[in-house]
Amino acid sequence: MLVPVFPMRTFVLCTLLSSLALAADPIRFLPASKTFVLDAGPVTSAIAINNNNELQPVYFGPRLWRDDDFKPAVASREWASFDLSAATTPKEYAGYGGGLFVEPCLKVTLPNGVRDVVLKYQSHEIKGDTLEIRVKDISYDLAVSLHYRVFPQGVIRKHAVITNRTAAPLTLESAQSGSLHVPPGEGYRLTYLYGRWAGETQMIREDIHPGVKVMESRRGNTSHQANPWFAIDGPEPASEISGRVWYGALGWSGNWRVAVEQSSHQQVRVTAGLNTFDFAHSLKPGESLETPPLYLGFSDQGFGEASRAFHRFQREFIFPGGLTSKPRPILYNSWEATEMNVNEPGQVELAKKAATIGVERFVMDDGWFGARDTDHAGLGDWFVSRKKFPNGLKPLIDQVKALGMDFGLWVEPEMVNPDSDLYRAHPDWAMHFPDRPRTTARNQLILNLARNDVKEYIFSALDKLVTENDIAFLKWDMNRNVSEPGWPEVAPEEQKKLWLQYTRNVYAIIDRLRQKHPRLEIESCSGGGGRIDLGILTRTDQVWTSDNTDALDRLKIQEGFTYPYAPKAMMAWVTDVPNFNGRSTPLRFRFLVAMQGSLGIGNNLNKWSTEDFALAKKMVAWYKGVREIIQHGQLFRLASPRDPSGFAATQYVSSDAKKSVVFATLHSQQYGRIVPNLRLQGLNAQTVYKVADIDNRFSTVESGASLMDRGLPLRLTGDYAATAFTLEAQ
Ligand code: DGJ
Repeated sequence: MLVPVFPMRTFVLCTLLSSLALAADPIRFLPASKTFVLDAGPVTSAIAINNNNELQPVYFGPRLWRDDDFKPAVASREWASFDLSAATTPKEYAGYGGGLFVEPCLKVTLPNGVRDVVLKYQSHEIKGDTLEIRVKDISYDLAVSLHYRVFPQGVIRKHAVITNRTAAPLTLESAQSGSLHVPPGEGYRLTYLYGRWAGETQMIREDIHPGVKVMESRRGNTSHQANPWFAIDGPEPASEISGRVWYGALGWSGNWRVAVEQSSHQQVRVTAGLNTFDFAHSLKPGESLETPPLYLGFSDQGFGEASRAFHRFQREFIFPGGLTSKPRPILYNSWEATEMNVNEPGQVELAKKAATIGVERFVMDDGWFGARDTDHAGLGDWFVSRKKFPNGLKPLIDQVKALGMDFGLWVEPEMVNPDSDLYRAHPDWAMHFPDRPRTTARNQLILNLARNDVKEYIFSALDKLVTENDIAFLKWDMNRNVSEPGWPEVAPEEQKKLWLQYTRNVYAIIDRLRQKHPRLEIESCSGGGGRIDLGILTRTDQVWTSDNTDALDRLKIQEGFTYPYAPKAMMAWVTDVPNFNGRSTPLRFRFLVAMQGSLGIGNNLNKWSTEDFALAKKMVAWYKGVREIIQHGQLFRLASPRDPSGFAATQYVSSDAKKSVVFATLHSQQYGRIVPNLRLQGLNAQTVYKVADIDNRFSTVESGASLMDRGLPLRLTGDYAATAFTLEAQ
């Protein structure tokens, strides 16, 4: 039911009653103050209809219990003829128009040349934990539905549906998912992730100054270079364990944009959604555009709790299977061992060795299909190479299964090599602009998945592969970014829709595949961590964190990853040394770093010594005993690998605080300095825990209070030293 707003007088008598009666509802409308209150567990967000009938965000922070604290919202006064009320009033979903100079959520061009949108409240509908607020332009029938859902972990999801109800087509030039306003003031800080191939999810924290800072991808996927997540703390600086942190993440794997802005009126606000770069989305009469979801949250216990709350939310509401899903199996992947030189005897040999360590899933990587001997050929031809597998994949899969593992396969469905049967048959299927060169990267072009026929071909190829073979898992790779985003088959004014439709169709293929093959699991890989976001994570079970598997570099990559994303999704392999960067670290160190996420092994097992196998067996068995805590527990980042001391530590605590796992690493011994006792977190102070190290050389029985205040003694000396502990309530 859509509820119009009644005149305020009508509600005077029942204001008190209704606010009390509805206090338990997670979302409620307070007629007296015309305020929508959204309670998401420990977090409250409030949006009011102000005296200009505009939606004005009035609060986002810790849970407020008293509805009467919300007073009617009044639009800000104009500051000068240069900053009218439209520019100084916080807007929940601002259209570009009426004198707005900050980042708009919506920018439109009408066919008559009008480029002005002023959105005013129309109606709303509350259903349990969801809210829809409808706004409309003051002159034209351009409507926006703002959708909200609250989650008990302190997360609020919002997205917008923009509908052209006019009689003529119009063009959207910016369509954002929504905005976040922190309390007005200065001195806030921004934390975000940047990187590059082999150096993803690097964390940076900087002061927010007046102006706009844009994080974005123009690459057609989420990107290695930036990730659609941000956190803002302040004005008093937050730490891992204290302080106010607002955070947000987009659920989108295509071109995205997050603009963090401090206005000249001390308002820090974030606007996030589809990238405006090369964006022009025409809407015919009656058509709508739905934006990707924006997830927002708040913690008043620092960055650590911000991450833990977001992880809990992801495990319950984002990851496929939610709370019923099991911990990730330990996988072996053949890539670093054999690269494209795959064949049945070679893979069986590796599978036999992997099984002895305790591996549960054997994944054959690139090279099994078409004419794929090098990266110059084969992509697009998703049929088994009879040269390498004369009897198909079945004999290999049967042997893998007989060894007690399930079988996974690498694919890169969005790509085509010019040297492939697919490209020879359908050169027009690759993205291109007519009469212009097609830029190859890793000798490959991108299929235009925005096209329906291409989408259908890719779905059929993957469906056939999974139907004909007993495949439990696909590693879905994407090894280049978009260039020449042409779509010559559609009208020029429709062509920029490629960006949006491409990502939607990637999602559609995965969704359809999973629906048809409910037991199939998928990893999102894009040359490492090029496609990690909450859009892909709603439909894939894990992500490949980085092609950089050097354990020391990984400590920082993994730390950055865990700011937004739960360790369960973070694939971490142990691989051979020297690594691609020339560094060699001990196998034990490599294991203890990889075990801080979902463990995988990518070594050439044919080169391992008896001692290596013995160590790996021990580590894998230990990991199996604690992975439930690592993958489904709470993460505490105790000591950062960014600290110059070279010491880093993480701790995972089961949700009932009865079990815990601690990892500690020392990159290099400096000046003989002793690593101080490690103060643990998240334990029950009154509980007594039995503590044991991974080598069974140290054990103690101590209270949670003692372990959290006096700390755990560590005997880490030398370079690339690593240890781990388990804690169990007595
Ligand atoms: C890039 C991936 O990140 C690697 O793990 C591997 O699968 C290669 N592609 C294969 O081409």
